Amino acid sequence: ELSDEEVLVELRKIKEELKDEVVVLGHHYQQDDVIEFADYKGDSLKLAQDAALLKDKPYIIFCGVHFMAETADMLTGDDQHVILPDMQAGCSMADMANREEIDKAWDFMRKSTNDKIIPITYINCAATLKSFVGENDGTICTSSNAQNIIKWAFDQGQKLLFFPDQHLGRNTCHDLGISLDEMVVYNPNMLNGGLTSEQIDKAKVILWYGFCSVHQGFTATQVEQIKKEKPDTTVIVHPECNFEVVQAAHDNGSTAYIINKIKEAPAGSKFAVGTEINLVNRLANDFPDKEITSLSPYQCLCTTMYRVRPRWLLASFRAIKENKPINIIKVDDKTKEYSLKALNKMLELSK
Ligand code: 13P
Ligand code: SF4
Repeated sequence: ELSDEEVLVELRKIKEELKDEVVVLGHHYQQDDVIEFADYKGDSLKLAQDAALLKDKPYIIFCGVHFMAETADMLTGDDQHVILPDMQAGCSMADMANREEIDKAWDFMRKSTNDKIIPITYINCAATLKSFVGENDGTICTSSNAQNIIKWAFDQGQKLLFFPDQHLGRNTCHDLGISLDEMVVYNPNMLNGGLTSEQIDKAKVILWYGFCSVHQGFTATQVEQIKKEKPDTTVIVHPECNFEVVQAAHDNGSTAYIINKIKEAPAGSKFAVGTEINLVNRLANDFPDKEITSLSPYQCLCTTMYRVRPRWLLASFRAIKENKPINIIKVDDKTKEYSLKALNKMLELSK
């Protein structure tokens, strides 16, 4: 078996050898030894936009999680293959909503109100849920376009169903001037989501109960403590953090937004960052003239992103070289029809 170092040496060789056939996409939460091999790095929106433009490469290896690979598959051609180096690299938030639950919730909501409800899904979900929004006049958002997409939704109807992340939904709607008492949370593990028809009819925003197990690790107490102890430190967090954290922080945005803010800050700037630890550590290394620390003293690690290791990336490359590609992510045609409609709508609204 190859040592970790030998794996990296082999990877550099095989990547060069297959450079006309294979392109590698990497999300910002990947580890340094994987991100080194990414031809395109980005947040969820940028990686979807990049994938949509990659028409000349037969193989796209996606160093990220399952829903990202599914998205890339739908945005690329039928003759292209998207590969996920570890098939178990999922997303615990995406797993908090499934099609059956959403259909049931939708039924109840539609019976409860005459208002037109526009469904918006965070891109962190299975393709079947992207299809649901496509079938029901809704669309998809990421953390970098959520404001524009939600504004668009309110031009189309009177109410919003936002899933699966309650926090991104609540934080964004609040920024758009919707008050907390106009929002309710639907919990699929309770009868009728734990809501009455009257509550649905009165609400402006219905938030699915989902959350990110990584970002829920940050607390408002941590933010307050930093503000008190290090008043010259800017606290910047991801909008998957809960409402109190985002309210207490100085700034919030997608991974690309956080990176850009830190990049543009003058030398000597100090940041406490509330997002996944691999990105925070990379920022600290990339900007040694700035003080960059994690907002949390605990390791806020995305364990599913972490599954993608150079060894499995090498195995994916080797299988392509042998003409027996493995770990292909393929969305079936029926699901793809409306999911792609929703994805294209999102891309159009993100220009
Ligand atoms: P972005 O990179 O789009 O901000 O998404 C963060 C995330 O949690 C991806 O799963
Ligand atoms: Fe999912 Fe959270 Fe991991 Fe992103 S960081 S992939 S939302 S579990």
